[in-house]
Amino acid sequence: MSENKYKPCDLVIFGGLGDLSRRKLLMSLYQLDKSNLLEPQTKIIAVDRLPETRESFTQIAHKSLLEFLNESLDDVVWARLSARFNYLQLDISNLEEFKKLSAVLDQKNRITVNYLAIPPFLFSNICNGLKKAKLVTKEARIVMEKPIGHDLASSQVINDTVQSVFQESQIYRIDHYLGKETVLNLLALRFANSIFTTNWSHSTIDHIQITVAEEVGIEGRWDYFDHSGQLRDMLQNHLLQILTFIAMEPPVNLEAQSIHNEKIKVLQALRPIEDYNVGKRTVRGQYAAGYIKGKEVVGYLEEEGANTQSTTESFVAMRVDIDNWRWAGVPFYLRTGKRMSYKRTEIVVYFKQLPHNIFKDSFYDLPPNKLIIHLQPKEGVEIEILNKIPGIDGTIRLQKNKLDLSFLNQDKKHVSGGYERLLLESMRGNNTLFISREETEQAWKWVDSIQRAWQKLSDAPKPYPAGTWGPNSADALLARDGRTWED
Ligand code: BG6
Repeated sequence: MSENKYKPCDLVIFGGLGDLSRRKLLMSLYQLDKSNLLEPQTKIIAVDRLPETRESFTQIAHKSLLEFLNESLDDVVWARLSARFNYLQLDISNLEEFKKLSAVLDQKNRITVNYLAIPPFLFSNICNGLKKAKLVTKEARIVMEKPIGHDLASSQVINDTVQSVFQESQIYRIDHYLGKETVLNLLALRFANSIFTTNWSHSTIDHIQITVAEEVGIEGRWDYFDHSGQLRDMLQNHLLQILTFIAMEPPVNLEAQSIHNEKIKVLQALRPIEDYNVGKRTVRGQYAAGYIKGKEVVGYLEEEGANTQSTTESFVAMRVDIDNWRWAGVPFYLRTGKRMSYKRTEIVVYFKQLPHNIFKDSFYDLPPNKLIIHLQPKEGVEIEILNKIPGIDGTIRLQKNKLDLSFLNQDKKHVSGGYERLLLESMRGNNTLFISREETEQAWKWVDSIQRAWQKLSDAPKPYPAGTWGPNSADALLARDGRTWED
């Protein structure tokens, strides 16, 4: 992958006053500066429509860091970071206004990274405005936040628009899960360790579970979320990306193109979920009022701004099959939901059970070995194995144990959950950890078919109390195959 050095950069954040910028991007830039990873001459230009100034933006950024950073603010780092700030008031709908941006950029000597932390309907204005102001040089890049559309057709429109101005190599489609340490460690785990490379297929693996459970609700984003639902908001991108890392064939090297190619093949091999199997293969849920860590929380339909008739899902579980040689007959069970018991993202690989059991005194059925990959909040890897209970009582009795293969210094907090790394990679010019156009479109194609089948079925989502692991039908989904969720 890339070196630590990159040319000085003008990082332009469109939507500089927005939620994403204040909650994630500023925090990540702070962490990068703290670790001396920001190039000393790099500048940060926040662009938004409100009449703020450099000074008032600096105050807003300071407040946001105090609010969202879960450590105390280091004055030296803050002084260094805030010295990089600039603020530009710009009306994105007026293409003439982009000339103002030319005045603050130095494109002769520096690269420009345009970060679009704004809704996608504004992407085309920005691309056209940058083009009109002649700011689309060879050294300019564009980083696009999700959602890239809400279905295949709308994502094609967005991609066409952006590609009419930028080359594909200049476009960075972000999925912040690909910046998470443990997702990347999957590459090392799978392709650098022979015990896993040789035991990673239908001959040794029974099934795989991927859980992305969130404790939060919709966080005041009713308008966005209710048009999206958990399938489009989380599964189309984050869960399918994790799935591609687990299921892909070994890439020939770590170059962006090699990795993208292998991920696309997995997405192409996903068995379609359509009218005939959607009822059996998927579960939709919606949270009702309940308790999270002892605190009462409202249901989805009581959220601020809610349409009380909404049938949008806040939970989805499904069985996914990958129709290729490696994964024939190995189900992948995916589940993700808001307002679940607690935040937990993990992958559990269940190995096959042994054909014969000589330890019936301990376990009538020998439990399978499991590889458990924790993504967040805990990060690390464990293997569950069986070993003998120590002692000289003349018996051989077994117990389950977890071997901790953790590779991380748990003191190092990855507070921004992936954004630090991805911001840095976009400034370095390495798009390996970003999503190619074809990946986004394959993922949409597969998800669109589920969405269409749900519409025809017109079943209301199953309610589940906030603070639980989803509706009972999610358990039934696995029970039908004789399995249970890892809880
Ligand atoms: C975002 C979704 O992409 O990911 C949010 O839009 C979700 O709805 C968030 O809460 C989860 O991210 P993380 O890093 O907290 O798991």
